[in-house]
Amino acid sequence: VKFKETQVIVLANQKGGCGKTTSAISIAAAFNKLGYSVALVDTDPQCNATTSFGIDPDTLYNEGKLSLLDVYIQKRAAIDVQIGFGDRFDNRLFVVPGNKNLNAVGPRLDLEIQVALSAPGSAEVDADDYKNEQRARLRNSIESLRGVHDVVIIDTPPNLDLLMTTALVAADWFIIPVFPSGFDLQGLEILTRTINKIREKYNPSLQLAGVLLGNYDKSAKLDSQIHGFLTTKFGDNAVFQTTIGRSVRMRELTVTGTTVFEHEPAHAQAEQFLSLVREMINRASKGQNTLNPLPKLEEVVEHAAATPTTFTVSPDMLEVSNG
Ligand SMILES: Nc1ncnc2c1ncn2[C@@H]1O[C@H](COP(=O)(O)OP(=O)(O)OP(=O)(O)O)[C@@H](O)[C@H]1O
Ligand SMILES: [Mg+2]
Repeated sequence: VKFKETQVIVLANQKGGCGKTTSAISIAAAFNKLGYSVALVDTDPQCNATTSFGIDPDTLYNEGKLSLLDVYIQKRAAIDVQIGFGDRFDNRLFVVPGNKNLNAVGPRLDLEIQVALSAPGSAEVDADDYKNEQRARLRNSIESLRGVHDVVIIDTPPNLDLLMTTALVAADWFIIPVFPSGFDLQGLEILTRTINKIREKYNPSLQLAGVLLGNYDKSAKLDSQIHGFLTTKFGDNAVFQTTIGRSVRMRELTVTGTTVFEHEPAHAQAEQFLSLVREMINRASKGQNTLNPLPKLEEVVEHAAATPTTFTVSPDMLEVSNG
C-alpha cells in the first residue's frame, strides 16, 4: 500500500445511467495504473461493474463462490470475497463481485429482524439496533480491506434503498457523477439531503470528493451551461475541474469487458480519468492549503440552499455550437 490509510470512495447518484459504473471502473483502473492497489465493490444487483471485468456473477454463484450476497447475509469479510486478475492488473486490482439476488437483500434482512423480534425476551424497541447493525454490514466487511488496498471503490444501484445506505455508511468519500443529458436538479437535492442525513446519523467522517461531469461535450451549449450551473449552485470547489468527454467508445467497453486503459490507441477518456485521480489525490493531500481545496459538505449544502434552484433548458441550449 502507498497511502497511509485506505480510502473508501463511493459513486453515488440514485439517477439511473449517469455514469456511476463507468466512473467506478475507470477510477479503479486509473488508481491501478498509477501504481495503487485497488478493490472495486459492486453493490448493484445489475452487476454491471462485475461483468465489465469479464466476470459472470451467475457462474460464480453456481460454482458456490462468494459474492456481496454473503457479505450482507453471512457477514463475510470482503477480503474473503475479492477476486484478483493476476498479471492483467499487476496483481493490484480486485473485484468484490455482485449478484442479481442483491435485489432481495432488503426484504430478506427485514425478515431477519421480524424473526429476531419474535424470539422470547426481545422487545419491539430493539428493532432500531438490528437495523443499524444491518446498515453497518458492508462497512464491517470492508474493514478487512483497510490496510490491504490503497483505495476501495464502491459502485451503487440507481436508488436510495438499503444497499445505497450501506455504501454511504461504509465510505470515507463520495463522488456524485452527473451526465448533462437527463440532468435532474431535484434528484441532486434529494441526494445531498439524504447523504447529509446519513452523515449526521451514521458516518460523520463521510466527505464530498466532488461532482463529476461525464459524457460531457464541451461544444454543446447545454453541457457547458449545466457545468456553469452546477458550479454556481454547489460552489466552485464542489465540482471537479476534470470532466469526462463523450465518446461512443466508452459504451463499447462493457461489451469488450475491458477498461479504458486497455486500448491502443488510447482513449482520450483514459487520460481524463488519470487527471481526475490526480486531482483527487492532490486536493486530498494538500487539504485546505491549495487554491482549489476540497469542498466542505456543510458549506456545499448551505450554498446550494441559498442559491436559486431553477434551471430551465431553453431551445437554443440544445443547439450544438461549432466552437
Ligand atoms: N463518456 C461517455 N461517453 C459516452 N457514453 C458513456 C460515457 N460514460 C458512460 N457512457 C455510457 O452511458 C451509459 C450509462 O453509464 P453507466 O452504466 O456508467 O451509468 P450508471 O449510473 O452506472 O447506470 P445505472 O444507474 O443503470 O447503474 C452506459 O451505456 C455507458 O457505457
Ligand atoms: Mg451502474
